[in-house]
Amino acid sequence: MRKNIVAGNWKMNNDLDESRKLVEEINSALGNDDLNCDVIIAPPYVNLNEVSLLLENSKVKLSAQNCSSEDSGAYTGEISPKMLKSVGCEYVILGHSERRAYYGEKSSILDKKVNIALKNKLTVIFCIGERLLEREKNEHFKVIESQLSETVFNLSEEDFSTIIIAYEPVWAIGTGVTASSEQAQEMHAFIRGLIEKRYGAKVAQNTSILYGGSCKPTNAEELFSNKDVDGGLIGGAALKADDFVGIIKAFK
Ligand code: PGA
Repeated sequence: MRKNIVAGNWKMNNDLDESRKLVEEINSALGNDDLNCDVIIAPPYVNLNEVSLLLENSKVKLSAQNCSSEDSGAYTGEISPKMLKSVGCEYVILGHSERRAYYGEKSSILDKKVNIALKNKLTVIFCIGERLLEREKNEHFKVIESQLSETVFNLSEEDFSTIIIAYEPVWAIGTGVTASSEQAQEMHAFIRGLIEKRYGAKVAQNTSILYGGSCKPTNAEELFSNKDVDGGLIGGAALKADDFVGIIKAFK
């Protein structure tokens, strides 16, 4: 069975003290209650080690926001998947639209990153999503299909079965404009259909597909109630413990 997941992508926010504070607030707000979903946070690289220590007795799991496409060596400024594993990361976000738009990450590099992350036993949260113009031109389904077929659909069935997909329409990220519940369900069902065509019904049914883009405590419950929406990848609302925990609690 696929899992429900709420993952917080902190992006380039929170220095060390702020990171400690936010983790402590999230831990205490979650308390000892059983959760109805997996919870993941993705702080900036430099704070991963410290956050990992603060998560030792927590249900919250740790993700990185990116990783290198190489194992090791002369790649100034890069961080390898092995390094991420060594500080307690279990997940890595790849293919985020900000990495695609601002750092020129194309399918060829993402393909390498996904493979090296999987080789190092990180669970990949792979982001896909169309831009506003593409939706306006009614090209959104085509865009999503190419983003998948150029990258994660190259994986073996065994490898693909380990990954998480995050559908994040670029026009909804950080804009306050959320995809409607119908738009989210329509695209998630389309993505699950593509997975079924490529890997069969069992893999498709077992793949968690998260929604991302201006998800908040006020709209999470409606979005997550759709049968193909298995949780969220949260940006802005993951920076406040109350909001993040409010979204987690949308899974009753
Ligand atoms: P947002 O970001 O929730 O601030 O829209 C989502 C994301 O980029 O993952």
